[in-house]
Amino acid sequence: MMRSGLIKNMFEYQKENKFHAQISDGMEDLGATELKEMKAFNIKKGFRGITFSATRETLYRIVYRSRLISRIIAPLKSFKCSDYNELYRNASRIDWEEILSPSLTFAIFANVSNSEINHSHYASLKLKDAIADYFTGRFGERPDIDTKEPDVWLNLHIRHNQATIGFDVSGGSLHKRGYRKSAVAAPMQETLAAAILRISEWNGTSPLYDPMCGSGTVLIDAAMIGRNIAPGLNRSFASEAFDRISPTAWEQARSDARSAIQSDIDLQLFGYDADEEMIFASKSNAKAAGVEKDIQFEKKDIRDLWIDQEYGVLISNFPYGVKMGDYRELNNIYISFHKTFRNKKGWSIYVLTADKKFPDYFKRAEPDRVRKLFNGAIEVRYYQYFGERPPRE
Ligand SMILES: C[S@@+](CC[C@H](N)C(=O)[O-])C[C@H]1O[C@@H](n2cnc3c(N)ncnc32)[C@H](O)[C@@H]1O
Repeated sequence: MMRSGLIKNMFEYQKENKFHAQISDGMEDLGATELKEMKAFNIKKGFRGITFSATRETLYRIVYRSRLISRIIAPLKSFKCSDYNELYRNASRIDWEEILSPSLTFAIFANVSNSEINHSHYASLKLKDAIADYFTGRFGERPDIDTKEPDVWLNLHIRHNQATIGFDVSGGSLHKRGYRKSAVAAPMQETLAAAILRISEWNGTSPLYDPMCGSGTVLIDAAMIGRNIAPGLNRSFASEAFDRISPTAWEQARSDARSAIQSDIDLQLFGYDADEEMIFASKSNAKAAGVEKDIQFEKKDIRDLWIDQEYGVLISNFPYGVKMGDYRELNNIYISFHKTFRNKKGWSIYVLTADKKFPDYFKRAEPDRVRKLFNGAIEVRYYQYFGERPPRE
């Protein structure tokens, strides 16, 4: 366990205050801006990742408040590595008792590319052996592996024969906001919902609709943004238990996040879906997130959607029509969507879909911008149609 006294060999992140954020493909620029807003520095974008420097206080603030980043890795040790024995030797020299103990469980997430070591599973087994032998040799017992809910997540990254062993500060993916109780098919990741909200520049003042809201992910994140509820408030993080170097920093980050919540705010958020189960899931998720009063969910088919406001924002993740027979259904949806919104020039419309034909059907205008993103492994497009601004009063 990390001790506050003398540390034999400082870990890389302790020496350099440098961390690595993992982020979905296509969201790197948004993540870098978010990190900058939260006072990280030396920010460098890479493919699906961002390295940054941060004080411990800033790091904890990021873990609580980032809406876009998936994981944050604190590097323990980096080294040149071109075979499995070298990996084992280097891993054996880490002061593992600073991080783990025989009573804790751990898991390893390994990622290798363009290297002599080309098998991530074997690489993670070597690292696991090094840790197990380290503990057995010193204490006669070793920590167990738990791949589902480990106490400590370790990360092994090897690229161009350069290995980094790190530990996951957040201890699991940050996209989980801790509110999702109802399991429904294919919900969008919360980090993607936050990204499409950020791109839309919705600022909490205008009405926001999601007419095919599924389990409510976009609107729940919108309510959390509107109220300034930190995504990490409903969760606990692995490092809270380990990092005794700044014992009060976690508490400070949590209490700052709590006091930043805005309670005296009126949001206009509306979510519809044709599927009753989805509306049920949306309502229970919103309740668990503490924003059920901010969003009006209702079972409604998009073909029955009636909009009388002249100005507003619509953000929706449309069904993709990947199943046979869905195409006619999808056409009907597009046609009625076009009819409802073709003359609503004051509406900013943002549609996330994998169907590249969507702009052929929604002909209010050409999209002002199109952005490639990923919904899990599926490549999607975010079609953006900017609305006219309301006249100044
Ligand atoms: C891709 S999913 C949305 C997922 C959502 N973003 C989430 O995170 O859970 C598309 C949704 O459109 C809904 N849907 C399909 N046809 C519809 C229609 N005609 N009217 C309203 N909703 C419809 C489906 O029930 C589904 O929940």
